[in-house]
Amino acid sequence: MKLIFATNNQHKIEELRPLLSGDIQLITLKEAGIDTDIPEPFDTLEENALGKSRAIYDMTGANCFSEDTGLEVEALNGEPGVKSARYAGESRSFDANIEKLLINLAGQNNRKARFRTVISLLIDGKETQFEGICNGQIIMEKRGERGFGYDPVFIPEGDLRTFAEMNLAEKSKYSHRARATEKLVAFLNSYKLNH
Ligand code: IMP
Repeated sequence: MKLIFATNNQHKIEELRPLLSGDIQLITLKEAGIDTDIPEPFDTLEENALGKSRAIYDMTGANCFSEDTGLEVEALNGEPGVKSARYAGESRSFDANIEKLLINLAGQNNRKARFRTVISLLIDGKETQFEGICNGQIIMEKRGERGFGYDPVFIPEGDLRTFAEMNLAEKSKYSHRARATEKLVAFLNSYKLNH
């Protein structure tokens, strides 16, 4: 089965590719010849995920999925949440976002946070969503060079390293995106058996 992944984020593509089993072929927007920046205008991950997959489905008529992810920090009442990419402004700078987060958490003992991913799958125009959550905490300063976004300041529950100190397989052992993708794969496997 061919599925277009509605994202321009190369990091997300690299994380997902190894998680999809052999008979699910992931096609990137670039490979599908689509050069567009899909907007994320809504107030929830669920609506943004559907907006992105619907935009690509309307454009191509092909089965596709998208995902939207947010970092939800307990002491900040769930912020930056759906605004994670643009937390420090429209430049979408990873460094500026982390700096703002650390400033807003200065002096705060409660460092609990979670990543939440929502995948929106469109098959024959019908949507199914899958959620993945990774609980953890925000540390005081950046550690590690790998990954993207808030990875250098996030330690998942069950480990002592930040996501940025892990390789792809290690991050996927814990990550929100891997957990949502596991549900997507299970759904696709049973879908294939029934169609
Ligand atoms: P998006 O809107 O789903 O593309 O993601 C929003 C923002 O959340 C991104 O710009 C990243 O800063 C951050 N983000 C998403 N996924 C991850 C992750 O796996 N690790 C760290 N940061 C992430």
